[in-house]
Amino acid sequence: MSIGKLGVVGAGMMGSEIALVFALAGKSVILADTSQEGLNNAVKKLSEVLDSGISRGFWTEEDKLGALAQIQTTTVLEDFADREMVIEAVFEDKDVKGIVFEKLDNILPANCVIASNTSSISITVLAANLSDERQKNFLGLHFFSPVHRMKLVEVISAMDTNQKVAEIAAMACVEAGKVPIQVKDVVGFAVNRMLFALWNEALRLVEEGACSPEDIDIGCKLGLGHPVGPFELMDLTSNTLNLQVGKILEEAYGERFLPRPILKQIVAAGRAGRKTGRGWYRYDERGHKQ
Ligand SMILES: NC(=O)c1ccc[n+]([C@@H]2O[C@H](COP(=O)([O-])OP(=O)(O)OC[C@H]3O[C@@H](n4cnc5c(N)ncnc54)[C@H](O)[C@@H]3O)[C@@H](O)[C@H]2O)c1
Repeated sequence: MSIGKLGVVGAGMMGSEIALVFALAGKSVILADTSQEGLNNAVKKLSEVLDSGISRGFWTEEDKLGALAQIQTTTVLEDFADREMVIEAVFEDKDVKGIVFEKLDNILPANCVIASNTSSISITVLAANLSDERQKNFLGLHFFSPVHRMKLVEVISAMDTNQKVAEIAAMACVEAGKVPIQVKDVVGFAVNRMLFALWNEALRLVEEGACSPEDIDIGCKLGLGHPVGPFELMDLTSNTLNLQVGKILEEAYGERFLPRPILKQIVAAGRAGRKTGRGWYRYDERGHKQ
């Protein structure tokens, strides 16, 4: 079974680009958020992403028009009544996500695949917000930022996820140009556990005064072959979210994932990263590093 009609809840950095990659694959996508203004901004940003991709030869003008025509927006989840797969990408908060799943439970068709793009919350815990009979259709699909560039999706089955549902969801991701890997439902899944271990060590180096964020970024790029440095990546994903995820990892694994004081400090100072114009680096209004 191939998925043709998708819904995405949350039109922020992740949700809007998740909608885009499925729309580029010719799927019908309804993108939902709490305000029409936020949705209009999201579509405007997608148009800019497409323009930038066209100028670099990734897409054509026809791809752009085709993709944008596939995306409808809504502030009303009732519009998801005919969807075959819905991906949730709202704030990284168990309670906020829980309310969304409770609403979706009353709206979606019985066989609809339901996925969360959570970075760190247990999929089995999130599944508890759905009625018993729907829990077999629920799983984690963890995309990476920027979604139009990063090919990986972690496919996470909860305790009750039906294997066939995981296969259908993984196939939809393949059709959108992604490469799925299977990960057990452990907190942080696989990639963020490795990433946060690296980030904590990079943050310790800065706390010790051993190295500047700039030099660590150069070290990882030129010494380890990483395409972006850890501090550049922290600014891209947002330090606010990084701290939230760090706390969830600490709760699950204790001392070894204790969020570093310097990360708490930079978040308290309002330096969220690229989104707000300042993080470890400064950014212009187009989000370019200065
Ligand atoms: N930022 C990353 O690099 C990254 C990577 C992988 C996964 N994630 C996960 O993706 C999710 C979204 O992250 P993001 O960075 O896109 O966040 P974001 O803050 O950019 O976007 C969240 C969006 O959800 C909307 N929203 C909040 N509550 C809602 C509701 N009840 N109904 C509809 N819309 C609602 C907000 O208005 C906002 O537009 C989080 O769970 C995050 O952990 C983020």
